Amino acid sequence: KYVLHNEHIISADDAKVEMNDRGYHFGDGIYEVIRIYNSKPFTMDEHLNRLIESANKLDLNLQITKETLENLINKLVEKNELTDGMVYIQMTRGVSPRNHLYHRTENPILSGFTQKLSTQENQTKQKQGISAWVTDDIRWLRCDIKSINLLGNVIAKREAADHHCQEAILHRDGMITEGSSSNLFLVKDQTLYTHPATNLILNGITRQIVLKLAKSLQFEMVEEAFPKDVIEHADEAFITSTTMEVMPIIEFKGGVKTSLKIGPITEKLQDAFQHYKN
Ligand code: PDD
Repeated sequence: KYVLHNEHIISADDAKVEMNDRGYHFGDGIYEVIRIYNSKPFTMDEHLNRLIESANKLDLNLQITKETLENLINKLVEKNELTDGMVYIQMTRGVSPRNHLYHRTENPILSGFTQKLSTQENQTKQKQGISAWVTDDIRWLRCDIKSINLLGNVIAKREAADHHCQEAILHRDGMITEGSSSNLFLVKDQTLYTHPATNLILNGITRQIVLKLAKSLQFEMVEEAFPKDVIEHADEAFITSTTMEVMPIIEFKGGVKTSLKIGPITEKLQDAFQHYKN
């Protein structure tokens, strides 16, 4: 197994992390998860553009070009002989004695690894649908940045699992934002509803693809925040993410209680997504 460390692909056994990495002290870093289908990175350009955006928003100087990152990711996938799975890449603000104040001279630290994912397992779940736990969004106000600070997300995910749900759906003062690691879509009267790409959500790459596919299928789309109780009147619901693709929700528990069937629009988008990725 090989991993990525700065601009080198090294054996995982030789990789070490620094105690004084600001990623450990402050969660001062960003990341991306890129899907690999048939040994090829999917929408790598979009993910790397978002990584660069996250870096800019945090005044973090990446000091590496998109082309170099692309080459490194391709090499890592090849060396690990990964056919289906994901690449995780992370960039922290670098190593320095613990101090809240960062200096712009520090060298960011890039690390990355690959992980296998079971396409089979995912597709079975996509046919059955999942349960979602509706709970408070306790995160900060820059959810548009793909930061490695994920406490609000991991707390919500644990809470969901404790209630036998596979994902947490978050609301801020009663308005639905997104999932703990996904974006939420509702369908009502043939129209798709999802939160707009503001500072309150991560603008998912899968979300953007689904919006594009929905447009080409001529579905009506509304990118507006909606109150959580609207879920009770929805015809269909699904979440999107790099790892889950288009995943139907068949049950909401917690802050909203309702059951749903997997509907025709969700199925059409699932089909369209499978075509798009091949
Ligand atoms: N999570 N919203 C949040 C909070 C997320 O963490 C993610 C992705 C998404 C969906 O984004 P995308 O479609 O670009 O994957 C939305 C990744 C997969 C993760 O942390 O594992």
